[in-house]
Amino acid sequence: PSHLQAKASSELFAPSNIALCKYWGKRDRSFNLPVNASLSVSLDYLGTHTRLTPIDAEVDEVWLNGQQLLPSAKFSQKVSAFIDLFRRQQDLYFRVETRNNIPTAAGLASSASGFAALTLALNDALGLDLEPQLLSVLARHGSGSACRSVFDGFVEWRMGQREDGLDSHGIALDAEWPDLCIGLAKVDAGEKAVDSRSGMQRTVETAHLYQSWPLQAAADLEKLHQAIARQDFELLGQTAEQNALSMHATMIASWPPLLYWQPESVAAMQTVWTLRRHGVPVYFTMDAGPNLKLLFEQQCRDEVLRHFPDLETVEPFGSR
Ligand code: PMV
Repeated sequence: PSHLQAKASSELFAPSNIALCKYWGKRDRSFNLPVNASLSVSLDYLGTHTRLTPIDAEVDEVWLNGQQLLPSAKFSQKVSAFIDLFRRQQDLYFRVETRNNIPTAAGLASSASGFAALTLALNDALGLDLEPQLLSVLARHGSGSACRSVFDGFVEWRMGQREDGLDSHGIALDAEWPDLCIGLAKVDAGEKAVDSRSGMQRTVETAHLYQSWPLQAAADLEKLHQAIARQDFELLGQTAEQNALSMHATMIASWPPLLYWQPESVAAMQTVWTLRRHGVPVYFTMDAGPNLKLLFEQQCRDEVLRHFPDLETVEPFGSR
């Protein structure tokens, strides 16, 4: 619109998401266009609430979990640059209040839910009334994985073919899995040394092994669709775990090497493998950090918690 007007206040929520088939590698860095399609599950009520209030000022006022940040802070800069996509040249500034209800102790990144919630809040504040797929395209510009957080449940991010990225967005799958549980096994909640943007770039540019990644991801995506359609938990878990380890293999094969694991990460993997040897169907996935995300079904919850007493658990389809 030529002249934007904002509502007095808008507050929207978007869930965090965990990829079962990972997004790793960009074919276009300025638009966050992926090399491969990915598939995730959104974490129900765990995510980000974002409130926007128009203010009479010449810069956005950014708050994170109740604390006002300096305009020069990295987070404020990212948020303002994203709002620029909507405001263009106009003098329209906001107080942006971001609240993550993800327990910081869970060591889960909040950029996906953060940019998705900010997109939804801008859509509401400016009365844009955009279609969900376009909202997903916009959220993708903030952070690739944010395009999946615009939806609940299982979400596929179709990579698309267009150069403008308008066909690269999330699609919600028409499927539920009421018994599915995700456990957040924290190893270290500290800020990671290499963020996913630079990690991806390094892998794409330096790891020969990366050449096999798009094929692995395409095969895994297919298997995940089958697993979800048949509610085949073993297939879901095996595929997600192998996909995550394949992604990490490409990271380790980069130069300088990129190893996000800590000794405790490996110890947690071994606990998962021991549990499986004892007949407990539990699997893990990992992102660009040292923490594990466990996948299991409701009937194994007690057994899993016995071995991971500090686990934060979420049922992605719990409150439906
Ligand atoms: O959206 P980004 O740039 O934070 O990248 C996310 C990358 C992974 O978390 C490792 C994988 C994924 O698909 O979420």
